[in-house]
Amino acid sequence: MTVALEVRNVIKTFKTDTGSINAVDDVSFQVPAGEFVALVGPSGSGKTTMLSILAALLSPTAGQVLVDGQDLAKMDEKDRVALRRNKIGFTFQANNLIPYLTAQENVEFMLQLNRKRDKVGRLRSQELLSRLGLGERLHNLPSQMSGGQQQRVAIARALIHNPTLVLADEPTASLDTERAFQVVKTFAALIHENQRAGIMVTHDLRMCQYVDRVLQMRDGKLVKIYTDQAEILGLARGE
Ligand SMILES: Nc1ncnc2c1ncn2[C@@H]1O[C@H](COP(=O)(O)OP(=O)(O)O)[C@@H](O)[C@H]1O
Ligand SMILES: [Mg+2]
Repeated sequence: MTVALEVRNVIKTFKTDTGSINAVDDVSFQVPAGEFVALVGPSGSGKTTMLSILAALLSPTAGQVLVDGQDLAKMDEKDRVALRRNKIGFTFQANNLIPYLTAQENVEFMLQLNRKRDKVGRLRSQELLSRLGLGERLHNLPSQMSGGQQQRVAIARALIHNPTLVLADEPTASLDTERAFQVVKTFAALIHENQRAGIMVTHDLRMCQYVDRVLQMRDGKLVKIYTDQAEILGLARGE
């Protein structure tokens, strides 16, 4: 088993007007390659903060994050930027597509950054967009697509360079139920096929039916881990 991600006793403290808050409070877990994990919990429980730390966009107040065995805190900024570009794929609540690039160009932009925008890469981006239901939208600009379509382009962009770690914050937030299920199912299939580690933040427990493990946060703490498939399916059904 290859450990793609290791989180050791991570704490993130924010200053507030009245004092301080531990948005992430001593969280530890591992994700092996090939595993798709859901991170759930009520609003304000620290999910986005956790994901931002994993994406090396925010540094923890204490603790360690290792991606492919490399400690993010021990890298200089240049190496961290390279690691973020090569080994991490992410989509955040705001999809941040580049407005003057088409769907396919937005996805291939990640390949360009990694100098891999070749014929194989271009075929892969078309295939990936098609699998996400956007085969007819390859040459549309973000402004010509619905919010849900844009979100799927952002998902394709997070996966195209085959990163070790794929992070998605509420990837189904602007999709209708049918489409949300389809996207998460495809997401899970791609994680499994390519032996990547995937973490999806969601407040929609129904989406958990496609994941291998569920991490539940509350008040910055990891309060429960569901590993049993029957238990996960029960959670997804609202039992
Ligand atoms: N930059 C920040 N400064 C101060 N407090 C923050 C900041 N970011 C998040 N928080 C606080 O940390 C807690 C966790 O927030 P967040 O990670 O966004 O939760 P979630 O994504 O689960 O809704 C909340 O109480 C939030 O108000
Ligand atoms: Mg959030």
